[in-house]
Amino acid sequence: MQAVLNYLKENESRSIAELCEYVRFPSVSAQPQHRQDLRACAEWVVKHCQGIGLEARLCPTKGNPIVVAKTPRAKSSGARRPHFVVYGHYDVQPPEPLDLWKSPPFEARVVNGVLFGRGASDNKGQNLAHLKAAEAYLKTGTVLPCDLTFIIEGEEEVGSSSLAAFLREQRAELECDAVVISDTGMPTPKHPALTYALRGIASFQVTLHGPARDLHSGIFGGTVDNPAMALCQLLGKLRDKDGRVAIPGFYEGVQPLSAYERKQFARLPFKARDYQKLLGVPKLFGEKGFTPHEQRSARPTFEINGLTSGYQGEGSKTIVPAWARAKITVRLVPNQNPAQVIKRIKQHLEKLCPPTVRLEVKWGHGAEPYLVSPTSPQAQAALRALKAAFGCEPVLIREGGSIPIVNDFKKILRADSLLLGLALPDDNAHSPNEKFDLGCFAKGQLMSAYLWQELSRV
Ligand code: BES
Ligand code: MN
Repeated sequence: MQAVLNYLKENESRSIAELCEYVRFPSVSAQPQHRQDLRACAEWVVKHCQGIGLEARLCPTKGNPIVVAKTPRAKSSGARRPHFVVYGHYDVQPPEPLDLWKSPPFEARVVNGVLFGRGASDNKGQNLAHLKAAEAYLKTGTVLPCDLTFIIEGEEEVGSSSLAAFLREQRAELECDAVVISDTGMPTPKHPALTYALRGIASFQVTLHGPARDLHSGIFGGTVDNPAMALCQLLGKLRDKDGRVAIPGFYEGVQPLSAYERKQFARLPFKARDYQKLLGVPKLFGEKGFTPHEQRSARPTFEINGLTSGYQGEGSKTIVPAWARAKITVRLVPNQNPAQVIKRIKQHLEKLCPPTVRLEVKWGHGAEPYLVSPTSPQAQAALRALKAAFGCEPVLIREGGSIPIVNDFKKILRADSLLLGLALPDDNAHSPNEKFDLGCFAKGQLMSAYLWQELSRV
């Protein structure tokens, strides 16, 4: 094991250089013009895996290819070796708005121990940390106490629609004791974390259609409804004064937080002033009766992600726009039923929509919420690995983001996911100037190296 740790230290600067290479691919899954970049990025990952001694292949799908890489399997000695799947994604969120980046999003610039670039934290830096640990075992000839299979996909940021079918097809090969994922966060560098719950998500787009074309607002305004105004009024009815989502049945099934959990939440570091400053808001806002930690990870929400209508160019244009559109996601918590929530939203929108505009709802991707036992022997093993790598006591947290595939791992492979995130709250995931702390990168590699020892003993 010492050889593994030494190897990681000795190769630190090369690993950083490789992470920079990885981040330079503009692998934006939401934008069709980047299809080739996604493929090139996946090919880079395959080559990289082969270079470190893994058996790697590119698996084409209807969407972006999936990379599968395995540690060389020892000749069967009869005894069944533990097998863990490590999941990550090489696709990234769109970098826009570009003018807010201090260095170009796909340049991969290192400043004071921090790597800036879209995807640096979410998720390239985090999945490369695991590959580096595997490399250290393989290159030093240290025997791994388990078999590893890496699955690095290219559609996580758009709902992982190809991966579930892939898991079903490859079930025999992927049967495992647990899935390990570093694609979440930790509260501070001194609070490494095991995440035991994720929110689910449902995405959709609401369009209100008004006149057949944009109209002169002076000639016709006043006689037809304005779709932008109608949409604002409609959306305005969906939240009450206490910050609750005002859709009948929305909270159905929501598991109340136990006193024990609320006590754990209260122990997490949090300074309202710092948090407010980090986010740049004049004042925090959230559902009444819950703390910010609870609001952002254990309560469901309704978010407008984009709002479009009418003239967006320079100067003014006097029109009644033909349509108005909102891109929306709801975040769901255990045990909300996503199908039921969607049904309730649809019913309510239909009820609220005035007869002067036509409602169109287009459903997008969805994922169920996730909750796993934080006290299982595997979870305890993961906590030991975190402690060994970071040198401080880890915390148990829920996270507000979603990783769509974790429920499929459970259903198809019957495996729990151990969520061991390396992102910091100020990493700017999905925002301009995304970054990854290279200290977290190094400690993440150590964590992965320790993890295989700890998990294989369970
Ligand atoms: N890494 C995030 C998920 C995440 C972030 C979990 C922070 C916990 C804390 C992941 O890449 C992501 O952003 N997922 C999307 C999924 C969606 C597009 C289906 C998300 O949560 O918005
Ligand atoms: Mn991610």
